[in-house]
Amino acid sequence: MVEFEIKYSQTLAAQGITTPEQVRSLFAQATADFDAQISIDAVELLWEDLHQRWLGRKSGWLTKISDNWLKPASQELKRTVGQELNRLKAHVESGLEARHAAIESGPEPTVAAKDRIDLSLPGVIRPIGTHHLVRTVIQEIEDIFVSIGFSIVEGPEIETPYYNFEALNIPEHHPVREDMDTFYLDLPKGAPGPLLLRTHTSPVQIHTMEKRQPPVRVIVPGKVYRRDNPDATHSFMFHQIEGLAVDTDITFCDFTGTIEYFVKQFFGESVKTRFRPSYFPFTEPSVEFDVSCIFCGGSGAAASGGTCGKCKGAGWIELFGAGMVDPAVYGFVNYDASKVSGFAFGMGMDRLAMLKYGIDDLQVFFQSDVRFLRQFP
Ligand code: PHE
Repeated sequence: MVEFEIKYSQTLAAQGITTPEQVRSLFAQATADFDAQISIDAVELLWEDLHQRWLGRKSGWLTKISDNWLKPASQELKRTVGQELNRLKAHVESGLEARHAAIESGPEPTVAAKDRIDLSLPGVIRPIGTHHLVRTVIQEIEDIFVSIGFSIVEGPEIETPYYNFEALNIPEHHPVREDMDTFYLDLPKGAPGPLLLRTHTSPVQIHTMEKRQPPVRVIVPGKVYRRDNPDATHSFMFHQIEGLAVDTDITFCDFTGTIEYFVKQFFGESVKTRFRPSYFPFTEPSVEFDVSCIFCGGSGAAASGGTCGKCKGAGWIELFGAGMVDPAVYGFVNYDASKVSGFAFGMGMDRLAMLKYGIDDLQVFFQSDVRFLRQFP
């Protein structure tokens, strides 16, 4: 074809063509040239190329034939060249038209093999992430409390000392207010008041009671911050879930019933629970809540013999702090302490997750190591 293409640019005389037979044979070759090209399985784009190549106004091959073969042809050959050119032109036009119609009406444009998409090949599989175990546990805890009438509220992680301490009956001199335990924010000169990262979710008790009148039944999941060095059970940031129920006649029995219900739902019916007296400035009485050791079933003995490493032989595991809301707290939110009563609790959710799923290092929650994360799809 390439070889033949040169001939379209040469005059007949230059090609040594002198007789009508030679002219006809030359046109026969040009026709064969076109037929060979049109028969190639082509996409529409290629059809356009072909159309341009043969019928292009300025430099299409028919124009070249007209310019180089017909115009300079000798008197004897002109007639034959003219007839043959008309025939070739009609052949090219109808050939291109037929091909175009076939492409248009075809089920789909025929795509060159190299460009075809093989739909049977498997695609690129992108792994979809999963909930982090802490998130899963938050969800489990929320579901249990929501099912018994609690609603979920959230509060700010940056607090004023008033909400984090004072309104919770933690006065100025209390040791938990020391810089050692609490992150205070560096504020620009002249900014009003100190701000801190909340050390517990309890300030949301105050925000909630300021906004709502009893009855109040809320749980508050969220991040809290303490100035602790990281180890297997400490982190500068961890997750708590606060609970608060206040109404006109809530007793310690409502409190124990609620907590026991939660613990059995979360860990299973077989766990036993117990209270120990404790102290928090914002609850009175205050308790520390324990469950029978999930690992040794409360026996204190390891399955392999010896003492259980998790409860250190005690048979009990300390779970969280709680108590009846101290009447002094009601004074900060304008509740009538002589009319209302309630209970509050604050649980470390990471700790609950560690106990339920047998994880012995708190740090793995925050290291984003997929070898850990993949174990909890
Ligand atoms: N805020 C307490 C803590 O972080 C826990 C707590 C909450 C205790 C509510 C009693 C009532 O340790």
